[in-house]
Amino acid sequence: MSYEELDTEELRTRAAEIRARFPEGRERSALLPLLHLVQSVEGKVTPNGVRFCAEQLGITRAQVGAVATFYTMYKRRTGGKHLVSVCTNTLCGMMGGDKTYKALSEHLGVGHEETTEDGSITLEHAECLAACDYAPVLTVDYEFYNNVDEEKGLEIVKRLQAGEIPMPDRGATPAGLAGIGEQLAGYGDGRPGAVAENATGEPTLRGARLAADHGISVPGFDPNTPIPSKQEGK
Ligand code: FES
Repeated sequence: MSYEELDTEELRTRAAEIRARFPEGRERSALLPLLHLVQSVEGKVTPNGVRFCAEQLGITRAQVGAVATFYTMYKRRTGGKHLVSVCTNTLCGMMGGDKTYKALSEHLGVGHEETTEDGSITLEHAECLAACDYAPVLTVDYEFYNNVDEEKGLEIVKRLQAGEIPMPDRGATPAGLAGIGEQLAGYGDGRPGAVAENATGEPTLRGARLAADHGISVPGFDPNTPIPSKQEGK
C-alpha cells in the first residue's frame, strides 16, 4: 500500500476523532490508538503508518518509531488469522505457562512471533498480561482464557486451526487479528455478544474485598492535576 492509499479522507477523519479525545495540548497522547488504527488498515505498522501518525500529531517519525518499536502489540510483520499469546512471565511461567508455550510451539511448528504455514496462527510468548489472578493465562486476539494448562492450550489452538473459535473465559469472541485494530484504537465492537458479562470473577475481586474488610482505600485522584513540563519538574 502506498502512502497515498493509506492517507485517505476516511482515515484522516478517524485520526481527528481520536485526537479530539485528548485534552488540548496533550494530543500527542493519541499516538497509541493512532498506531492501532494504521495497523488495522495495513496489518502491521509500516513506515507509511509511522509517517501518517507523525503528520497527524506534528511529531517526528523517530518519535513515532520509538513508541511503535517499544510496545509488542505493534507488529512489524503481517501475522496469521489469529494471534495466540502465552504468558510466560514469572507467575504464569511457574504455574505452567512455560510448558504450555513449549507444547503449542511444538504442535504448531513455530516459535516466538512466527506464523504457521497455513496462516491460521501467529504464536508469541507474552510478558505479564495483567491477569495473574487466573494464571497461567493465554489470550487469542487479546481475549482471555484462564488457567490454561498444556491440554487446554492445545485444545484451543487445534480448534482455531479447524476454523472454530472457542469462547474465551473473559471477553468477547476473538475477532481475529484484522478485527482488533479498530477496537484497540478505541472504536466499539459492534458484533453480537461483544460486550461480555463474565469479565470480573472472584479471584479478581478478592483483593478489593480484603481491602474493604480491613477499611483500606486509596486517596482520590484529581484527573485535572497538571503535569509539569520537563523544565518545571526539575
Ligand atoms: S504473570 Fe501471567 S498474567 Fe501476570
